[in-house]
Amino acid sequence: MIEILGDNSMTPDLIAPSILSADFARLGEEVDNVLAAGADIVHFDVMDNHYVPNLTIGPLVCEALRKHGVTAPIDVHLMVKPVDRIIPDFAAAGATYITFHPEASEHIDRTLQLIRNEGCKAGLVFNPATSLSYLDYVMDKIDMILLMSVNPGFGGQSFIPATMEKLRAARKMIDASGFDIRLEVDGGVKADNIGEIKAAGADTFVSGSGIFGKGRDSDPHRYDSIIREMREQMAR
Ligand code: DX5
Ligand code: ZN
Repeated sequence: MIEILGDNSMTPDLIAPSILSADFARLGEEVDNVLAAGADIVHFDVMDNHYVPNLTIGPLVCEALRKHGVTAPIDVHLMVKPVDRIIPDFAAAGATYITFHPEASEHIDRTLQLIRNEGCKAGLVFNPATSLSYLDYVMDKIDMILLMSVNPGFGGQSFIPATMEKLRAARKMIDASGFDIRLEVDGGVKADNIGEIKAAGADTFVSGSGIFGKGRDSDPHRYDSIIREMREQMAR
């Protein structure tokens, strides 16, 4: 799976459920179920109550998912400041991707190199009002560009429409660079807007409340039907 991810042409669209909206009391089972339903990678939101006003999970939980038997890529989205200290811990815990916000690092190039030196794929995350100019001198050190389509910190917010234009701009930058870089979008992604988001250039789709949302206990096949619907919308 990790090897396949290196070639965007083979896996153009990846669905990345954000476990922020999963039932944490049954996390291993939730991750198993959503992967069995056809999800591709596990989006893992790390919040520190400092860079963002919320507190979530750390390397111990990532490691626990690996020990539980999760082999799918784990996409660690760091909403922490500072970032460097915790990167080796996440690499040791089994992270596949590690992405961070440029505003949270004093030395962006160094942090990107640190992630790759630890054997992980590296990415930069852009808040809705953060300029893509942070990419100008580091495209060769990046495996993932993550555009936030909400302000970070909470699941269940509405998609900010200006993200569409930013996705088109980021897609142009990636294509012009010739590098193998995924374009991920995070926040307010649901079956009813995922088609339009893909058309704007995204190839990796985080969805928390859109997948784990309502009614999860009443219908064990809910994840299958939501993920199938997302794929159908993307195929249109
Ligand atoms: C927000 C997180 C997101 C969040 C998305 O800071 O980065 O990954 O879980 O949740 P939804 O899909 O509900 O907007
Ligand atoms: Zn996220």
